[in-house]
Amino acid sequence: MSSLNIGLSAQEQEEKLVRIRNNRDLSTFDVVSIDDLTVEDIHLILEIADEMKKSGTRKLGLLKGATIVNAFYENSTRTKTSFEMAGKHLGADTINMSGSSSSAKKGESYQDTTMTLAAYGAQVIIMRSEYSGLPEQLKKHVPAAIINAGDGWHEHPSQALLDLKTMIDHHGTIEGKVITMVGDIMHSRVFGSVARIIKKMGGTLRVACPLTFVPENVENIFDIEIFTDIEKALIGADVVYSLRVQEERGSGGFIPSLREYSKTFGITKDRLELANENAILMHPGPVIRDIDMHSALVTIDSKSRVLDQVENGMAIRGTLQWLLADRCDGKIKQCVRV
Ligand code: CP
Repeated sequence: MSSLNIGLSAQEQEEKLVRIRNNRDLSTFDVVSIDDLTVEDIHLILEIADEMKKSGTRKLGLLKGATIVNAFYENSTRTKTSFEMAGKHLGADTINMSGSSSSAKKGESYQDTTMTLAAYGAQVIIMRSEYSGLPEQLKKHVPAAIINAGDGWHEHPSQALLDLKTMIDHHGTIEGKVITMVGDIMHSRVFGSVARIIKKMGGTLRVACPLTFVPENVENIFDIEIFTDIEKALIGADVVYSLRVQEERGSGGFIPSLREYSKTFGITKDRLELANENAILMHPGPVIRDIDMHSALVTIDSKSRVLDQVENGMAIRGTLQWLLADRCDGKIKQCVRV
């Protein structure tokens, strides 16, 4: 855990963050996929997020004058509140739009909605929707930076970044570490981004799940080993990462029953003890207690890092907003208007 920089004034803290950044820039205008980020980008994000976390809830002015739009067309607790809170802590004017309040309900296309939001001068548009590939399609049409806050089954890059920070906070590095993900990788955008970041940063990824949850050729694309025996997958793991069975995306059609799934793949205390002594337990949330993992493990077990993940979300999401708002202010992002 980082100690808070109580001794520094807000201005000193801002100056420190600017010094850490030291004219380094992300190599991208948009964070739609982990593929958009280089290893250097990821190191920059982690370094700044570490320092932002030390500021705690103190208000900083790094995003003063910036307009940030949170366009959430699909439900969210953690991602929406942490992007909004982090934006406010950094002094941004944040605007929130939900699916039910947008004119998309009246038949307006997502492209027209997004171009309208960008025309107000928003530097960053943060977008969640049930449609895989929507942010990739829209990023071409607006000069604002797009942050993908979860698109359908595809990706959730800010989640993978906060997860990486959580793993590194505990283990120091993920190079050479074994991460075992357990659950519905087929419907999981978290898997899509976490698998990419682990490969990029030198970790070893194992997956334990029923074969019905395994997308074709996934083991070769992401260099992962698939296990149908959870016990074997957990032996030697440094991180045990549980995923939710996503009933709203039809996961139930891929398993005999939730009860059966939970018996075979749910994380229990006994199963967790098969992992390395220093292993941690993670879950992106929301947790379906007693299906994904035993209820007693979720927050109170000493190995659980579920609430650390939430806390790291603020620092990572504040960092992304600052780096991208500034990037879009200082340079010109090419976009087409059709
Ligand atoms: N992990 C995650 O994306 O949670 P929310 O759906 O609550 O944002």
